[in-house]
Amino acid sequence: MNDYEWFKGEVYKLSGIDLSCYKEKQMKRRIEALIRKYGMEPYESYLQAIKAKNDMYNEFINYLTINVSEFYRNPEQWEVLKNEILPMILNVNKKPRIWSAACSTGDEPYTLAMILNNFIPLNEIRIIATDIDREILNKAQTGIYSAKSLAGLPKNYLNEYFTSIGDTYQIKESVKKCVDFKHHNLLKDPYPTDLDLIVCRNVLIYFTEEAKTNIYYKFNASLKPHGVLFVGSTEQIIMSSKFNLKSLKTFFYVKENQNK
Ligand SMILES: C[S@@+](CC[C@H](N)C(=O)[O-])C[C@H]1O[C@@H](n2cnc3c(N)ncnc32)[C@H](O)[C@@H]1O
Repeated sequence: MNDYEWFKGEVYKLSGIDLSCYKEKQMKRRIEALIRKYGMEPYESYLQAIKAKNDMYNEFINYLTINVSEFYRNPEQWEVLKNEILPMILNVNKKPRIWSAACSTGDEPYTLAMILNNFIPLNEIRIIATDIDREILNKAQTGIYSAKSLAGLPKNYLNEYFTSIGDTYQIKESVKKCVDFKHHNLLKDPYPTDLDLIVCRNVLIYFTEEAKTNIYYKFNASLKPHGVLFVGSTEQIIMSSKFNLKSLKTFFYVKENQNK
């Protein structure tokens, strides 16, 4: 067994994160760069260090999960969601069950809540938002953001749903209450069910084809008939019909009726 294979096994025992499901070349290069920052040689002494020191362990998890996010990321896709997809979903269910999977700092589920509020009152909106990184979930729950992460958000949303504190912005309590943040590993934990909409963007790109295939099947099983999956800009699903998902618009897939 080579050193990276051994390290992957140890990381799995330590964190439950299966690095074999992430694209190897990219992941290995990132981890080795982090280890070298400490002047260590991959991998044994670094493993001892993350086992012994909480802050180094948290840094490792944070680093390998890549938390980049922003409000209203790829605006044109959110416009499609608002103008075409949500009206269709709300036509079937006035209180849709929604999951923002791999939600990072919360920018995505909060964007969802603000858009949904065009159609339904905030106190009727419920969004499950999950991520593997516990530290990032704390940040999401705190809900304080820099101007940079809000740059793409339409100004009317910024004015209505945020309070400015110095050079940062705090999301209002009424929006926070729409979102239920939970820890969840897409590669191993059971998925929420009976969903009208799953938003999972900019994470599948890091996974191997095999891991992605498993996830698509599980997404399909989690959706209600005619539920919709919204993916990231570089994550279009090849041969989506294999997973009983039919392309509805670019980046949107609807669960196909299996009895047709
Ligand atoms: C680049 S961010 C995407 C955030 C957001 N969805 C967006 O598009 O702006 C990727 C997120 O995936 C999370 N992640 C990575 N592996 C995961 C896994 N196995 N299960 C759940 N979340 C995971 C990371 O912690 C990170 O917050």
